[in-house]
Amino acid sequence: MKTRYERISILGLGAMGRALASAFLDAGREVTVWNRTPGKAGELVARGAREASSLGEAIKAGDLTVVCLLDDGTVRATLAPAVRELDGGTLVNLTSGSVRQARELAQWLKGHGVHFLAGGIMAVPATVGTQGAFILYSGARDVFERVAPVLGSIGRSHWVGEDPGFAALYDMAALSGMYGMGAGADHAVALVHAEGGDVETFKQEVLQPWMEQILPITVAGADANESVPDEYNPGMQATGLENILSASGEAGVPADLAGHLRASLWRMRSGAAAS
Ligand SMILES: NC(=O)c1ccc[n+]([C@@H]2O[C@H](COP(=O)([O-])OP(=O)(O)OC[C@H]3O[C@@H](n4cnc5c(N)ncnc54)[C@H](OP(=O)(O)O)[C@@H]3O)[C@@H](O)[C@H]2O)c1
Repeated sequence: MKTRYERISILGLGAMGRALASAFLDAGREVTVWNRTPGKAGELVARGAREASSLGEAIKAGDLTVVCLLDDGTVRATLAPAVRELDGGTLVNLTSGSVRQARELAQWLKGHGVHFLAGGIMAVPATVGTQGAFILYSGARDVFERVAPVLGSIGRSHWVGEDPGFAALYDMAALSGMYGMGAGADHAVALVHAEGGDVETFKQEVLQPWMEQILPITVAGADANESVPDEYNPGMQATGLENILSASGEAGVPADLAGHLRASLWRMRSGAAAS
């Protein structure tokens, strides 16, 4: 199959679908868009995109179909009536979902003759198409290599394996890290606010530089058993968490996250003592 994928069809014009369409337009591609609810394509149409009046029309207009909808159920329900139109075509799904959902979607589309790649967007709409954005892809390597040049317009392309579930796997795992970091940052700011500290100064002069310093060490030290390496001195860490819990209690700020971490540290320490 030889195509340069000049014509891209985007299914879904939520915040992310619009950002993807915009980045493809910036890169000079011929873009056709479709959304369940019409009326979201105005700005894109003004910049040269074409709004399809039906899903089938959108699919036929593209060499490459890029799907970005709410969730896997929405993707299945949307594509089911039009799946015959996709036969022989190439589809990249950038909708977030679980590992099993990605594998099952890949199997279903393969059964309908579709060249498929699963994706996970490591970006927010504002960073799509910028240097910081990167997108995880998994599925057949040859499909990835064919579409990678054009997908480069939305962010750096990073293929993570033939198993179509791997993009979702790495995406969900990375988001789990992000939510933990976010919950910790929220708690930190709540503490400072409750005790009358200057939140903006704290964020800029303490929290950000501290997290930047500690992030590579945290990532390097992470392991599947959630254990604490010896050099991190679990006894000292457990005492440190007690201090955070005390400070939270004094400030009247709930400390669920620190409580959970303390429990898991104590579990590890007793495991270490038992072995
Ligand atoms: N936004 C982000 O920062 C971000 C970052 C990474 C990944 N993602 C992923 O990108 C995907 C889209 O996110 P988004 O921010 O664009 O979400 P969004 O703004 O809520 O848009 C949701 C899209 O799904 C469509 N949709 C919802 N229910 C539908 C249904 N039953 N049938 C057909 N279409 C339906 C919506 O169409 P209508 O307009 O008709 O409702 C809209 O096009 C999600 O999987 C999300 O996890 C988002």
